[in-house]
Amino acid sequence: MSDFLTDSFGRPLEYLRLAVTDRCNLRCFYCMPAEGIDYVDRKDLLSYEDMLRLTRIFVSLGVNKIRLTGGEPFVRKNFYGFLKRLTKIDGLDQIAITTNGAVASRHISFLKEIGITSINLSLDTLNKERYEQITRKDFFDQAMETYHAVLAAGIKLSVNMVVMEGKNIDDIVPMAMLTKDDNVTVRFIEEMPFNGSGLRETIGFNHKKILETLHAGLPTMNPVVFKEGTTAQEYTIEGHKGKIGIIAAYTRTFCSSCNRIRVTATGEMRNCLYDQGVLNLKRLLTDGSSDQMICEAIKEGYSKKHKDGREAEAARLTVVSESMSSIGG
Ligand code: 5AD
Ligand code: SF4
Repeated sequence: MSDFLTDSFGRPLEYLRLAVTDRCNLRCFYCMPAEGIDYVDRKDLLSYEDMLRLTRIFVSLGVNKIRLTGGEPFVRKNFYGFLKRLTKIDGLDQIAITTNGAVASRHISFLKEIGITSINLSLDTLNKERYEQITRKDFFDQAMETYHAVLAAGIKLSVNMVVMEGKNIDDIVPMAMLTKDDNVTVRFIEEMPFNGSGLRETIGFNHKKILETLHAGLPTMNPVVFKEGTTAQEYTIEGHKGKIGIIAAYTRTFCSSCNRIRVTATGEMRNCLYDQGVLNLKRLLTDGSSDQMICEAIKEGYSKKHKDGREAEAARLTVVSESMSSIGG
């Protein structure tokens, strides 16, 4: 279709990350404060109808992959019904979900049935007590149940571990060892300041240190050729079934092939995790604007995409401090 969008640096728009709620049943300290979280009013969220319409519009502009994020997507009422309708939209080759796994384990076979293609499970440690310290909740066993259920169902599984100095460095190698017998990709993510307070401005443990730690603790690792539009530098490990990946989310090494856009739970469009939002889609979806008008507004918004996350951050009026749950992880 001639309408397919590219930004002013020639990067195509292919991948939509849609936050279905800003609420969460965990309180991961790198994402939210323990208390006093300002959840948005339910009436300010996009409705499922809005999201389905918006997805069709984005598909007409070139999007072929969608990820549902949050908050925790599975805590929004009737999320399963929404997924079922989403999978009927023509043109989506990949439908992925990011979840903490706390309440999803019993429904994984349903996800397989309706055609969900991959799941990213947030898991920062294999130690139950440490899990409670990091997430401030007691859902470790449920998260592990989800892990096994996704593998058993044959849905592509990635595990996301946020690497935090002083918290879970000695979990890096044990987490990587999950790949020995399981067909899973374990991804190590640099910590970013999207924690609701912005207090930790720079990270202590960057992608280079993560790589050194992995090299020191694992059999021979071989880099996989970097796939454009992705964020992880992946490695296979000799004798292991799965793979590992390192995501330089704070250092931002991968922006030159970025193909993604974000829509927050309140319908704000962001060209980058680090920008402050370029368009209020909720307003357009509810004020009688036609699909064509929304398309034009998206094109205009996307033309403002910065070259990379550093430039997007530099152009902000306020420092990065919002919770990841309000943007969509
Ligand atoms: N830094 C890095 N990654 C984060 N996530 C959430 N908050 C942060 C942060 N401050 C990621 C986690 C989680 C997903 C929802 O978002 O990987 O799995
Ligand atoms: Fe919830 Fe994910 Fe944020 Fe943890 S990181 S509090 S699981 S949204």
